[in-house]
Amino acid sequence: MFETFEMAPPDSILGLTDAFKKDTNPNKINLSVGVYKDASGATPILRCVKEAERRMLEQEQSKGYLGIDGLPEFGRLACELLFTADHEALTSGRTVALQTPGGTGALRVAADFLKQNLPASSIWISKPTWANHPKIFEAADRKVETYQYVNASGTGLDFDAMLKSLNGIPAGDVVLLHGCCHNPTGVDPTPEQWLQIADVLHERKLLPLIDFAYQGFGQGIDEDAAGLRAIVRPGSEALICSSFSKNFGLYSERVGALTLVAGTSDVAQAALSHAKVSVRTNYSNPPQHGGAIVATVLGDTELRAMWEDELAEMRSRIHAMRTLFVATMKQKAPQHDFSFIADQCGMFSFSGLTPVQVDELKSKHAVYIVTAGGRINVAGMTEQNMDRLCTAIASVL
Ligand code: LMR
Repeated sequence: MFETFEMAPPDSILGLTDAFKKDTNPNKINLSVGVYKDASGATPILRCVKEAERRMLEQEQSKGYLGIDGLPEFGRLACELLFTADHEALTSGRTVALQTPGGTGALRVAADFLKQNLPASSIWISKPTWANHPKIFEAADRKVETYQYVNASGTGLDFDAMLKSLNGIPAGDVVLLHGCCHNPTGVDPTPEQWLQIADVLHERKLLPLIDFAYQGFGQGIDEDAAGLRAIVRPGSEALICSSFSKNFGLYSERVGALTLVAGTSDVAQAALSHAKVSVRTNYSNPPQHGGAIVATVLGDTELRAMWEDELAEMRSRIHAMRTLFVATMKQKAPQHDFSFIADQCGMFSFSGLTPVQVDELKSKHAVYIVTAGGRINVAGMTEQNMDRLCTAIASVL
């Protein structure tokens, strides 16, 4: 039965890492997938994670199944990280979280939850968005539509166009927003703009689904949550998909959370029961290890402080690489203005390089970036690879 199959196209992001691994050029640079590198070009295991694992190894008693929604302690701490412990959405009991295999797992559970419980709703994604977003929702038979987000050059927010688009979405539909560090553009609304976005969502009775994969990579843990805290008002509903891949460096452990915010605690429990059906028919219950690491770190004062320091270190290195990139491009290609890269935040920026230029970077210079918009993972730049990277970019411009 498989004989007629043709090769499926490689994934537009992870497929590049496969190609990168096969490249024999010793000076190759991978700025495709969103993985943080330190100054030496390594993706480190955080010190707080190592210490949590050491404690877990000593204390772990069982490898029995977790509940469908994962470790209760993880769920509680994940919610507190989103909102802070004394936020009304938590103290009222109307916020519940499920531990999921990564942020992608959270998105897929959310998509199945929507399919099963709000079948008439379409999902609206920003133009552009993470390449996997439409695929996840289409895989769950969701109708996917787009709303305006960036200006024509892709370097800044077109806020008027965004509001106009949001104002045209029918009540009852779902709007996917990037909580911070928009992927792929690095362009975020300001706190004031978030308040206006929240007003539109409330007035038009739209359900926000917030993809929150980079908390702490933009301006700070609380600063990056400004958007979702503006959106979640007393009595309002939301779905939040968070990832701990980047801010804990736990990529391969697959740890994320789907947080459901409902109008009351009874409704939240009913919504949770339906999300559990989606999980049970997908992967049954989540793997323990990654969630246990996050819960151990966030639940311990000393480890939490260590994590905050390490996260701040990663954040400031990314900011420094943005500045260095802009300065180096100014030397290598003074006729081109890349200053917008320093204004954006998080791991990614749209370089504006065309597919032909992206292809040439790969084939002639062994520099790998994502084709759509020339998305660059700034967190993969180092002082060592900067000169070679900028020389290569200047040569294809
Ligand atoms: C990315 O956009 O590179 C990351 O979110 C990793 C992924 O799974 O695509």
